[in-house]
Amino acid sequence: MRWHPFKPALPAALLACTLGTGALAADGQAVYQQVCVACHQAGAVGAPGLAPSLVGAVAARAGQPAMRQYLALVLTHGLQGRIVSEGQTYNSVMPAQTQLSDEELAAALSHVVRDLAGQAAVPAFAAADLAQARASTVSPKALRAQRDAALAP
Ligand code: HEC
Repeated sequence: MRWHPFKPALPAALLACTLGTGALAADGQAVYQQVCVACHQAGAVGAPGLAPSLVGAVAARAGQPAMRQYLALVLTHGLQGRIVSEGQTYNSVMPAQTQLSDEELAAALSHVVRDLAGQAAVPAFAAADLAQARASTVSPKALRAQRDAALAP
């Protein structure tokens, strides 16, 4: 009987696809272009009165634990109230982006910080960082206080 080398490989490949989905890196650039760009603009430079820049002081500190946690919390809980960013005051609302998976949010954050802000030495965000943020509770006021603390010299 003739041996068909490709047949047994197929179910294994399908299984690997199914099981592998969660581990595959999401495309952070695609997520940014589909979701974030509408407010934060091309290159994440922001627009006064609409949404802050994501490529300034916040990104520059994205390697520090307090800032990493803050960034993950903004994506999973949204942000509202007065903040000052790159000399501009915002007093607006960012909706929580919980329609996106942990992988997608991690990839979007990594894209913003490492590619758009050019902070290539900052470690990529992991889905686990976002899962942890999603599971925690934080008030809008506490989140703004965490921002201040993360930006403090
Ligand atoms: C509907 C508009 C909108 C969308 C969509 C949006 N944001 Fe925002 N984002 C804002 C606004 C507005 C603020 C500031 C809120 C405030 O004034 O308190 C903000 C704040 C932030 C901050 C905090 C910046 C700082 O200086 O502390 C980060 C980080 C951020 N957004 C990332 C993202 C990412 C990544 C996405 C896409 C997954 C996204 N945002 C989608 C409007 C938006």
